[in-house]
Amino acid sequence: MDLELAPEHASFRAAVRELAQGVVQPLAARTDREHRFPEEAVRAAAEAGLMGVLVPREYGGAGLDALAFALCIEELATACASTAVIVDVHTSVGTEPILLFGDDSQKRRWLPRLASGELLGAFALSEPDSGSDAASLKTSATRNGDGAYVLNGTKTFITNAGRAGLYVVFARTGPGQRAAGVSAFLVPADSRGLRVGQVFKKMGLNGSPTGEIVLDGVEVPAENRLGAEGQGFTVAMRALDSGRIGISGQALGVAQACVDETRDLLRERGHEQGDDFTLADMAARTESARLLAYHAAWLCSRGKRFTLEASMSKLHCTDTAMQLAIDALQVAGEDGAAEGSPFARHLRDAKALQIYEGSNQVQRVVIARELLRAG
Ligand code: CAA
Repeated sequence: MDLELAPEHASFRAAVRELAQGVVQPLAARTDREHRFPEEAVRAAAEAGLMGVLVPREYGGAGLDALAFALCIEELATACASTAVIVDVHTSVGTEPILLFGDDSQKRRWLPRLASGELLGAFALSEPDSGSDAASLKTSATRNGDGAYVLNGTKTFITNAGRAGLYVVFARTGPGQRAAGVSAFLVPADSRGLRVGQVFKKMGLNGSPTGEIVLDGVEVPAENRLGAEGQGFTVAMRALDSGRIGISGQALGVAQACVDETRDLLRERGHEQGDDFTLADMAARTESARLLAYHAAWLCSRGKRFTLEASMSKLHCTDTAMQLAIDALQVAGEDGAAEGSPFARHLRDAKALQIYEGSNQVQRVVIARELLRAG
């Protein structure tokens, strides 16, 4: 079964699928095995205009909506989850804050370079001592005599660390005020005092660099503050709402790859012991998760509130991907567990999805709060 998409979404998805299956997928095994940044895949995505899906045409982007973004990430992730997360984080939390909160001059300065892929975007919120409780972040931004901000602190678990040309950095401008004391800044990677710290070796998403950045007296001009002083936490939360649509797309891609590869395997070797029923459950779960993700994207595209739906989608899609990766590997048996097997890769990749851009515990916090909100 396939959802009936509007013609423009259907043709966009077909184009991304062709690129993903033709260029990205053949690189996936090597990207995983060698923990290698998939340069060629990201370049091909940029040449196809996929780094600016959400950016309006006047700034050099494709001017598409959140559903197109979800479709794009889903197709890329069906081919290679590492490539998908690089494009996903760049597009959502790395670029969208400028679209939503940037002034004219920030948009003109940064969006064309992000949309073309000349600059890769990244999002620096988490810190060694503040992950899920983002409002407790300690990185400081104090004004110097010239009115510029000086940033000090360490940010961690940053997708695209070391590859990004621009970081959206969250820092405390008002001490002791939790969320109300946080501001957002656009910090170019070549700023003096900014260095890339540790880059982590992970069990999955091996082609996507995740690491720290250290800010040691980084001077950021006031014109690089994104939104008003004290508005940074809202910038982060709104960006993460959209980001969770992207992670849902990523999870759908991993789930779909599990369905496709299990189906191919059963066709090839025949099926026994209820493997065909496992495949049926896998396909049904993927399709139900897809409906949730597309609904969240649809609400976002129409400018409606979608915090609840984005968190439900992130929770359900990533749990689905994890379960499907387990099921697919079970069906594949010992061959599936061998080094280099795509089934083993999907299992390792799927786990990260339940943890990052707000752990699934955090999604439950958000969902419960939204349900219990007055009104
Ligand atoms: N949209 C807009 N504004 C929002 C919002 C949303 N979805 N959610 C909250 N806000 C605003 C609120 O309106 C509030 O403002 P007011 O006080 O003016 O009303 C302000 O933000 C504070 O909100 P809360 O009181 O809800 O803040 P909290 O501290 O209780 O938040 C939490 C709790 C929801 C769990 C939050 O800390 C959270 O989402 N944590 C998870 C962070 C996360 O996802 N980190 C992953 C980062 S991604 C990454 O690191 C990897 C990468 O490279 C991408």
